[in-house]
Amino acid sequence: MSTQIIRPARTLQGSLTVPGDKSISHRYALLAGLAEGTSRLTNFSTGADPHSSLACMEALGARVVHKEDKSIEVTGVAGAFRQPATPLDCGNSGSTMRMLSGLIASHPHLFTLVGDASLTPRPMERIRKPLSQMGAKLDLTDGHAPITIHGGPLTAIDFTTPIPSAQVKTAVLFAGLQAQGTTSLSESIRTRDHSEHALRAFGATLTRTGETLSIAGGQRLHAIDATVPGDISSAAFFLCAALLFPDSNLVLDSLGMNPTRAALLDVIAALGGKIKILAVEERHGELIGTLQINSAQAASATAPFVIGGALTAQVIDELPVLAAIAPYTANGLIIRDAQELRVKESDRIALVAKNLRAMGATFTENPDGLEIPGNQQLHGATIDSGDDHRIAMAFSIAALRATGDTEIHGAEAAAISFPEFFTSLDALAQR
Ligand code: S3P
Repeated sequence: MSTQIIRPARTLQGSLTVPGDKSISHRYALLAGLAEGTSRLTNFSTGADPHSSLACMEALGARVVHKEDKSIEVTGVAGAFRQPATPLDCGNSGSTMRMLSGLIASHPHLFTLVGDASLTPRPMERIRKPLSQMGAKLDLTDGHAPITIHGGPLTAIDFTTPIPSAQVKTAVLFAGLQAQGTTSLSESIRTRDHSEHALRAFGATLTRTGETLSIAGGQRLHAIDATVPGDISSAAFFLCAALLFPDSNLVLDSLGMNPTRAALLDVIAALGGKIKILAVEERHGELIGTLQINSAQAASATAPFVIGGALTAQVIDELPVLAAIAPYTANGLIIRDAQELRVKESDRIALVAKNLRAMGATFTENPDGLEIPGNQQLHGATIDSGDDHRIAMAFSIAALRATGDTEIHGAEAAAISFPEFFTSLDALAQR
């Protein structure tokens, strides 16, 4: 286990290109693996998780070539995955396990999906249910991994997602793409729509009527040439760091600004950040642009900012860092309806609480969130990442405004989504 020492900073200055978006990289890897032809993926995530998706595609018969210019070429199986020789190793990645299950369930093979110690206990009943309704045979182990899939023909269903989850939505859409008939799916709370854009980019037809998506089975996918936008969830750490210093100035380029992910920017603005969008363009349905954040203004509100309901689902991955910097904000933060955080790579509510406590913060932990008053000064402490990438990075940001140094134990977890995180932090934090 590696430890990183984070020293307090004076300000945050400079420009940064964050690695390719993790969610989009997963989807491009999986769909390129199924498609016909060779896809060229530029700025693919450097995080370990999307590389688990690529490795599974190789095990299923796709060819993956890492080019010198850092792009990745994936030659797909043209609709027919082969029987893998070994279990499909999803590593730490819930996205891989859930979305892959939907992608492979119609193929006539026996699949076993396994994961690491953090992924193994995570809930998988949420995908077993809709996929079983489509006729798939999935055996879980007490509701989680290892998963065994006896692949075979699927039939379309009408499905309403019981919890807001883009991974569950994607598993159903990917299975629907290969089922007999037209699958429809309704979400009560809209989640990130990268799968919808990616399916269309690979040539599938997908329609939306109100809150209902429909996809006809039997559609074939064709290879694409695509650039993955920078990951706004990785940028979130630096946007939050910029909030901590009144004279900070940071420019982020090639950043993904998909509206289903960009609610984070509204939260940052509400907490006092001054954000300028300098340029935006669209690629394969995804918005990509340059953003500048500088001098945090005094927040105009006097009450704590509340994240609840649909907003919670939209910023679910950014909640750990928002919570970690909340004590330094003028008015504090209340997070509600975030019980899903307890079944992420770790119990993120419990781990945020443990580490805020270690840094001397006052707050209340609730079953579905946290209430964190503002205007507090934290002190350096020993942080437990719990092997969770977002916890390791969130508390590295909180450490920038603490008195004294902070030790991040299990700092190597950052490599799951952002291997360059500590180097970037060193380059931007002025001491
Ligand atoms: C993701 C969806 C979210 C998110 C995860 C990535 C995706 O998970 O927390 O980091 O790429 O679809 P859920 O689907 O479990 O909400």
